[in-house]
Amino acid sequence: MAEGHNKPNGPDLAQGIAFSDLPDGGKLIGHCGDEQVLLVRRATEVFAVSATCTHYGGPLVDGLLVEDTVRCPWHHACFDLRTGEALRAPAFNPLACWSVEQRDDRIFVGEKLKRMVPKPRSGGSGLVPNKIVIVGGGAAGFAAAEMLRREQFQGSIVMLSDDQSPPVDRPNLSKDYLAGKAPEDWIPLRGEKFYSKNNIDLRLNTKAVDIDLRSREVVLADEGRVPYHRLLLATGAEPVHLTIPGADLPHVHTLRSFADCKAIIEHTATAGRAIVLGASFIGLEVAAALRARDIEVHVVAPEKRPMERILGPQMGDFIRALHEEHGVVFHLEDTASRIQAKEVNLSSGGALAADFVVVGIGVRPRIRLAETAGLVVDHGVVVDAFLETSEPGIFAAGDIARWRDPHCGENIRVEHWVVAERQGRTAALNMLGHREEFNGVPFFWSQHYDVPINYVGHAERWDEIAVDGNIASRDCLLRFKREGRTLAFASIFRDIESLEAEVEMEHQMVT
Ligand SMILES: Cc1cc2nc3c(=O)[nH]c(=O)nc-3n(C[C@H](O)[C@H](O)[C@H](O)COP(=O)(O)OP(=O)(O)OC[C@H]3O[C@@H](n4cnc5c(N)ncnc54)[C@H](O)[C@@H]3O)c2cc1C
Ligand code: FES
Repeated sequence: MAEGHNKPNGPDLAQGIAFSDLPDGGKLIGHCGDEQVLLVRRATEVFAVSATCTHYGGPLVDGLLVEDTVRCPWHHACFDLRTGEALRAPAFNPLACWSVEQRDDRIFVGEKLKRMVPKPRSGGSGLVPNKIVIVGGGAAGFAAAEMLRREQFQGSIVMLSDDQSPPVDRPNLSKDYLAGKAPEDWIPLRGEKFYSKNNIDLRLNTKAVDIDLRSREVVLADEGRVPYHRLLLATGAEPVHLTIPGADLPHVHTLRSFADCKAIIEHTATAGRAIVLGASFIGLEVAAALRARDIEVHVVAPEKRPMERILGPQMGDFIRALHEEHGVVFHLEDTASRIQAKEVNLSSGGALAADFVVVGIGVRPRIRLAETAGLVVDHGVVVDAFLETSEPGIFAAGDIARWRDPHCGENIRVEHWVVAERQGRTAALNMLGHREEFNGVPFFWSQHYDVPINYVGHAERWDEIAVDGNIASRDCLLRFKREGRTLAFASIFRDIESLEAEVEMEHQMVT
């Protein structure tokens, strides 16, 4: 996923290209010096921006143009073509922009433009708070803090996290980093300097245990108090722990934090065989990453097919076959009954040798703080369209938030990286007095070996899955339909269609 450092390809744009080589709505890759540049034409205007996404380097030439923006084919970040600004997560850094000149029916790309400081949004209402507290140092919390400073919020930002690490690129912990293919410095979302430079008071190893609604203070485990004018709860989710005998042995792990990931990696130096309990996203991504380290992997799970509940039977069969191709052995319709130092006993009888065990049997939202404070909860913290909880001035975002999704018309709570970041940003704007509804279309991706799966929308139940293309050939778009209406799309290597589906769903709101 890293950006390539190959010789630049395409025409030298400083020398110019014929205007007719770039049709209206067209994209073209060229270079300026050593840098790859994407040229985009919209009617008579031409934009020149860097060619790769600032998230993981997705090729924007394969992305989708939507008005004056380009969306990344890999994980649907969105950039403003005029300013380069990263308008939508998972990207935060802007694209570089170049000046463009049109003369004698030719297009010339000139110098790289100075990075523009984004203008704060106008139209906020009410008193701007001067103390904002964010509980949670994960996707939503980080995105909110970043957005507050991007909007030139001048007040104080305190970010409380009971993790020992600053905000990290959590999806990577079950993918490239765990597989040994990504260096450690890829993992923090930002270096330490970001927080000091932006005057974000990030307090690690700091647990919030209550909210004093009357005095507007967050109460810490050490009895300290942090006053707020606006508060964002972004406490995420925690892995469900097994309760079978042996589940608390030191070689049994769950995976949520950077520290969890490092603990698993430590085993891989000496272990030959791992047992993964659970065949959903985390479990199977871990299985793939461990196979990349040549660890023998057995997966034990109660379901008939991996991921069937979310992706349906056809995709479930494909995922199973894909993992089996890579040497994973499945023990489905079975569970672990006991874990011992060197083996895992199965409910069906028998035992599997195990040097270490990774448990990926789901997560539960961390809503205790909201519950203790008396906020309305319903398997998540209930928020309105502006992500405000039942208590005015307190917002919630990410894995804990339950909101009414205007696209499927149901109250939902999801565990998706991009949704958490986008909600964090929206909550930040609303804490500043904007009234921006969160109406992003849910999106997630998952990666198994070299196969990415993208999912747009939300379908907890469906009565039909229409398959376009061929799943086994890794070229497909699945539509999850209920009563004739498409609620979600899952795809493999159909990036443009996945992006188009997102745009289509953005326009479909249930009233
Ligand atoms: C290994 C892994 C891989 C994943 N891969 C993908 C993927 O490929 N695609 C995808 O869409 N999603 C993926 N996810 C899910 C995604 O990471 C989550 O949806 C996202 O992190 C949720 O963001 P959040 O801010 O709500 O919570 P988190 O990122 O979990 O952050 C919550 C933060 O709150 C802190 N906290 C909690 N309670 C307290 C408290 N009381 N006091 C102080 N601090 C507190 C925690 O320490 C943590 O820092 C993955 C998750 C994991 C674990
Ligand atoms: S690489 Fe572009 S959004 Fe991830």
